[in-house]
Amino acid sequence: MSHDDKNKENELELDHEYDGIKELDNPLPRWWLISFYGAIIFGICYFFYYVVGGAPTLRDEYNKEQEVHHAVRAEYLAKLGAFDVEHFEKIYTNESVIQYGESLYVANCMSCHADGGKGDIGPNLTDRFWLFSFGNPETVYPFILSGNPNGGMPSWSDKIEKEDIYAILAYVLNQQGKTYENAKQEEGNEFPPWKPGMRTEDYF
Ligand code: HEC
Repeated sequence: MSHDDKNKENELELDHEYDGIKELDNPLPRWWLISFYGAIIFGICYFFYYVVGGAPTLRDEYNKEQEVHHAVRAEYLAKLGAFDVEHFEKIYTNESVIQYGESLYVANCMSCHADGGKGDIGPNLTDRFWLFSFGNPETVYPFILSGNPNGGMPSWSDKIEKEDIYAILAYVLNQQGKTYENAKQEEGNEFPPWKPGMRTEDYF
């Protein structure tokens, strides 16, 4: 150690000494100080922006994106078929409508969705799990009209009269919650059971 260094060391020396080991008061490196003070300034800004200012959290941002997504989806489903939900609510518990719907179901749908809608080639229609809708009449109806021909579900819009599709839908939705032996496993997302008065917006 040179003479100069020794002098410097004396200047830096604090009054701390243990067993001959002396503590020096070296200045902290510049990079360390910059990041240290930077972190404090960042922390203060962060605190005021998010905690005091109430800026949107990640969850808020996620919810906002979800809302946009749901709105786009609802608009798309609504466009597929103008469905008169109030009319449907008036007729869907009528026994003769349900029976008529059942006969149409047996003729057109049972080959793929099996007895009572328990599911076979096509999904189970008696559970609360839906792949293409929310399980409420406003969103199941347009799906029956359009189908998903690539996935094996025919489009019915030009094969069955609209009023007859209301009857089939009445039958299908009255099958909700029924249990069958060898029913097909659940597929898709679970939705709360539909009740009259519930609208598509209520699922968001
Ligand atoms: C040729 C077979 C076939 C026939 C006939 C058929 N479906 Fe389907 N259906 C399917 C298949 C396969 C799917 C699933 C499509 C997919 O996964 O892309 C499906 C899906 C559905 C869904 C959506 C289920 C969900 O989980 O979202 C409904 C509702 C439905 N069908 C109703 C009907 C009705 C009502 C009829 C009669 C008018 C009918 N299907 C006739 C094969 C059929």
